[in-house]
Amino acid sequence: MASLSGISSRTPLALFFFFCCCCCFAATASAQLSSSFYNASCPNALPIIQSAVKAAVAKERRMGASLLRLHFHDCFVQGCDGSVLLDDTSSFTGEKTAGPNNNSLRGFDVVDAIKSKLESACNQVVSCADILAVAARDSVVALGGPSWTVQLGRRDSTTASFSSANSDIPRPDFNLTDLISAFSNKGLATTDMVALSGAHTVGQARCTTFRARIYNDTDIDSSLAASLRSSCPRRLDPHRIRHLLLQEPVEQQGAPALGPAVARRRLHRLASELLRRELGQVLR
Ligand code: HEM
Repeated sequence: MASLSGISSRTPLALFFFFCCCCCFAATASAQLSSSFYNASCPNALPIIQSAVKAAVAKERRMGASLLRLHFHDCFVQGCDGSVLLDDTSSFTGEKTAGPNNNSLRGFDVVDAIKSKLESACNQVVSCADILAVAARDSVVALGGPSWTVQLGRRDSTTASFSSANSDIPRPDFNLTDLISAFSNKGLATTDMVALSGAHTVGQARCTTFRARIYNDTDIDSSLAASLRSSCPRRLDPHRIRHLLLQEPVEQQGAPALGPAVARRRLHRLASELLRRELGQVLR
């Protein structure tokens, strides 16, 4: 993972971007919503979400970025309807395993915990889509950004769309025209897209999403590229991997009962598999 920027030291520019981005999402879904939607039905809804987000960000600052992104990925597929949170069912494949989300989106456990607190406080009142919208705002505040009023009253979807998640969420290799068109398809202007992209002043990205850019492209700040290269290797060193994978594992107690050759093969396979998995995590 590499920092998209230092998560702990945000600039006023970044804060401005956060504010803009959340206003954009609010604007796209403002019809019939109201900031006082839960005032009577669940008066503690907002404080419950706020304190859970605050605690999650205090535990891990990056979680603020992850929750903000969760709201974005929710809104870009079928609108801000909580569909990103749905697991696969027999009738649909959800969005969690779509390309832009798989092994990448984070914060589901935080949202689950908030939902269960809200269910105890007021059963079946607060929508998950609203939780995501409020958690995004509270995350920005917890990271030192500005606050704004969130319009509430979104309804949760009972379906999700794997294919729309793949087609509608912008990809990291998009050029400017692609980006403008992806946002325009959601009713957002180019200036919205630029402001929203400022959300990348917090959080982290996996090496795989920017490796090609830092090794192949010349239109990138050279010191930024150099610093990112130090945490994102060009490729696995095949000699080193081969050496690691071919090392004979030490025989474990009990293993000889299987016969030395069988035990050695099994241990070797296990060790190789573990190593591959570890490397996969680090170098994806
Ligand atoms: C403009 C089009 C966008 C593209 C192409 C894009 C792409 C990406 C990519 C590739 C990552 C890294 C994912 C990974 O490595 O697992 C990322 C991270 C992130 N994105 Fe975007 N994104 C876009 C817009 C947005 C918007 C509109 C927001 C929010 C308003 C946003 C918020 C974030 C945040 C906060 C992270 C870091 C998440 C974390 O650390 O967990 N992005 N984005």
